[in-house]
Parts: sequence; structure tokens; C-alpha cells
Amino acid sequence: MKSIPELPFVREFIRLCSIGDSLGFHERNGGNLSYHMTPAEASAASALLKGRPPCPWTDVDPKGDVAVPGLGGEWFLVTGSGKFFRNVAYDAESSIAICELDQAGTHYRVRWGLCDGGRPTSEFSSHLMNLEVKDRLTDGKVRVIYHAHPAHLIAMTYVVPLKDRDFTRALWNTMTECPVIFPEGVGVVKWMVPGGREVAVATSKLMERYNNVVWAHHGLFCAADSFDNAMGQMETIEKAAKIYMLVLASGRKPLTGITSKGFLAIGKMYGGDIPKRFL
Ligand code: 13P
Ligand code: ZN
Repeated sequence: MKSIPELPFVREFIRLCSIGDSLGFHERNGGNLSYHMTPAEASAASALLKGRPPCPWTDVDPKGDVAVPGLGGEWFLVTGSGKFFRNVAYDAESSIAICELDQAGTHYRVRWGLCDGGRPTSEFSSHLMNLEVKDRLTDGKVRVIYHAHPAHLIAMTYVVPLKDRDFTRALWNTMTECPVIFPEGVGVVKWMVPGGREVAVATSKLMERYNNVVWAHHGLFCAADSFDNAMGQMETIEKAAKIYMLVLASGRKPLTGITSKGFLAIGKMYGGDIPKRFL
């Protein structure tokens, strides 16, 4: 019989953490990752945990004002607060946790992991509220929420107006693949104190429209149907931001770019629905 770290979704989760670390997206404990387990994955984990008493029920948000009833009773794999992505592959059982939500979606209990104590990421409220929105909108297809601190994207939030349209256009214009990979654009949350309900509400509202939400002067949240796509979105957007900042740093005024007509043509070619408000 397998152990928890050998389960396929746990292996993929750990692999994303290592890739994110190798790309420099996770200084110290920066960033976090969550995965909404399928019922089959939850029962496979539960079978392996037979006889292990669960930890006590704890408020999802330390202030006790977050509820995700749409995910009541569901199980999640999540990084721990203050844990380093670099250490996840090295010592998974102390860095990440499987958490079960109660039926009301207000409390969780650790079923496996965080063996030295601690709690899930301080952004657990954002992760769960985003997953709740995506579960409803995609009929359970989108199960991964990935948050990182990529440097060029953060730099861009100092020079591009913090508006969905400005940010989307600036990113799309850097690389032809961008409107293929995120045809719906990106949302932008103004600077907010991280870790609480307020930023979780603002982010999950934007997740109704977007799969990628920028946090000004902080980082990016990606929602995806697989670990590969979550990392793919993070990498693409960071690469686009790098190109944007390189062009800016050249001190030269761009001589050319992609037009609205061009974006529409890309949408048509690749089946992406380019929103009219961005043209
Ligand atoms: P955690 O260590 O609590 O996940 O916090 C890291 C982070 O990136 C906060 O936004
Ligand atoms: Zn962060």
C-alpha cells in the first residue's frame, strides 16, 4: 500500500513546489499552493489514514469570519504557513497538509502533514474562496490555486496602472502566446494587507471572470485545472512581465506592437473569447 507522499496528486503538488522554487518564485516562505482533492483522492487518503486521529477543528480564518459552504466536507492539500517551497520535496510531512473542511465550510482539521505543528497558509481564505468560485463555475474542473511572488510581475505593478484593462493589454502586447493562454485577461487587486478576508473577497470576486489575478506590489494568484497549467500560467505571465520591463529598461520607445485587430484574430484562431472591453 502507498504512503500519502506517493499518491499521484501529492507527487504532482510536490513537483510544482520544486519547480516554483527553481524558478525563483518563492523567496523564504513566499507563495502558497492548494489543491481541491477529488472524492476518489479523498477516500484513498482517508483509507491510508485509518487509525490516525484527526487534529482538532480550527477556524478557516483566525478571525473566524470566512465560510465556504460550497466546499463543505471537501478535502484539500495545502502548503503550511511559514513553510519554504524549497523544503517541500525534502520534508513534505512537515511542510504541507491534507485538511478536511466541516459541512459549514467554516472550520478545517488537519488529517495528515504539518507534523511539527502549524497551520495552513495564511492565504487559506483566499485559496478556499477562489476554489469555491471555480468549483461552481467549472463544475469541479478547476482544482489548483497557485500563489507566487515573481519579480518582474511585481515590478510591473509599479509602472502600469492597476486596472484590469491596462494590465491585460500590457501583458498581451509582449508575446503573441499571451492572449492564447489567458484570453479572458487578468484581474488586478490594488495593494491590500495580505492574509485576511478582505483580500480574499476582492480576489475571489475577480476569479468569477479571470483565472489569473495580480496582487499589486505582491504577486500573482493562478487558478487552473491541473498543476501543469497552474505553473504554465505563472511562468507565461512572469515571462511577459519580464519582456515588458526589459523593453521599458531599454529606454527606447516601442516602435511596434500587437493591435486590437491582432488580438481578435488570435482569439478567433485559437478559440479564445477576447472580451470586447479590452479592445
Ligand atoms: P504563508 O507562508 O503563510 O503561505 O505566506 C506566504 C505568502 O506569500 C503570503 O502572501
Ligand atoms: Zn504572498
